[in-house]
Amino acid sequence: MALKVGMLTSGGDCQGLNSAMRGVAKRLYEYDKETEIIGFLDGYAGLMLRNFRRMSADDFSGILTVGGTILGTSRQSFKTMQDPLFANQKDGPTKLDAMIGTYKELDLDALVILGGNGSHKTANLLSEKGLNIISLPKTIDNDIWGTEMTFGFQSAVNIATEVIDGIHSTASSHGRVFIVEIMGHKVGWMTLHAGIAGGADVILIPEIPYDPMAVAAAVNKRAREHKRFSIIAIAEGAKTKEEAKMSKSEYNGKIENSPLISVAYRLAAVLDKLSIQEVRCVVPGHFQRGGTPSAYDRVLTTSLGVEAADMILNKKYGKMVGIVNSKIVGIPLKEVAGKLKTVPMDHYLISDARKTGIYFGDEKIDNA
Ligand code: F6P
Repeated sequence: MALKVGMLTSGGDCQGLNSAMRGVAKRLYEYDKETEIIGFLDGYAGLMLRNFRRMSADDFSGILTVGGTILGTSRQSFKTMQDPLFANQKDGPTKLDAMIGTYKELDLDALVILGGNGSHKTANLLSEKGLNIISLPKTIDNDIWGTEMTFGFQSAVNIATEVIDGIHSTASSHGRVFIVEIMGHKVGWMTLHAGIAGGADVILIPEIPYDPMAVAAAVNKRAREHKRFSIIAIAEGAKTKEEAKMSKSEYNGKIENSPLISVAYRLAAVLDKLSIQEVRCVVPGHFQRGGTPSAYDRVLTTSLGVEAADMILNKKYGKMVGIVNSKIVGIPLKEVAGKLKTVPMDHYLISDARKTGIYFGDEKIDNA
């Protein structure tokens, strides 16, 4: 009997979702043309609400280079999975019951989940409830524990790097300080990579709380040394030393009450007063998640997809397909769920960046 496999993309989109699904599907169809693939629409919402499409091999052709996800996606908080499916039916099925019900009703052999951190908690829960789950690590943030690389990351770093590249000429023309805010949620992988690749002079990441005075000292020092401009790459989740000491609610309160919409603008407000040069901000935002996957991500997702399909064919479930020691392997979902892969303080990129004169906002700078 041909296999019946479900597929869904969950959480924020990123480059490489389509190419990853294509990898899974092509391998499965190559093994057995009769394989049935069910595509759930808008992530876990489709699984809960039985909103799905019966896919055909044609659906997976011509999508290698296409950004976004052909299935659509949505964010469904893990914390709400035990809540009623419909708010007005308190005694009705929970979201979790509904998802398990759909899987059973459709008599799936396996479900492939392409998701980030939050989605992996739900993937693990479904696996613990006995569903045959295989997951793939998608996110531009590269923050999924257990894999050396997530897909989407390299494509987004390329875009963030181009943004920094593009700022150089205008920063130089005007002799200004530019602050470029880079996505990455609570971790600094994207900013560290794009900052180094783009030649940023200051890199601010959540893992290294910064002192705004030290950042001002760094850019003023550069100006006094006749450097025409400075570029600061700041991660959207970066915090000052003071903010890093705050409780979550204190910090959220501060952010909510601030008229300044993001970290770049909050830093700019301080630097406006302290910098001897004019300051400007650039926030590329979701642009970093858009467009076609890079060659790296196309290759990575093809291999991850093929491995996911092979795991289904070999009935090896309950795993996320990722990279460990440069090899594509299955990592148990229970080890992945609920953990965050931050940039370790002893990461070679931090020390190499410091050795090339890049500031991280935690330095003591004299005569600034
Ligand atoms: O997790 C990917 C990501 O792009 C983060 O870098 C960012 O913080 C977040 O998603 C934005 O989420 P949303 O698309 O829901 O605005």
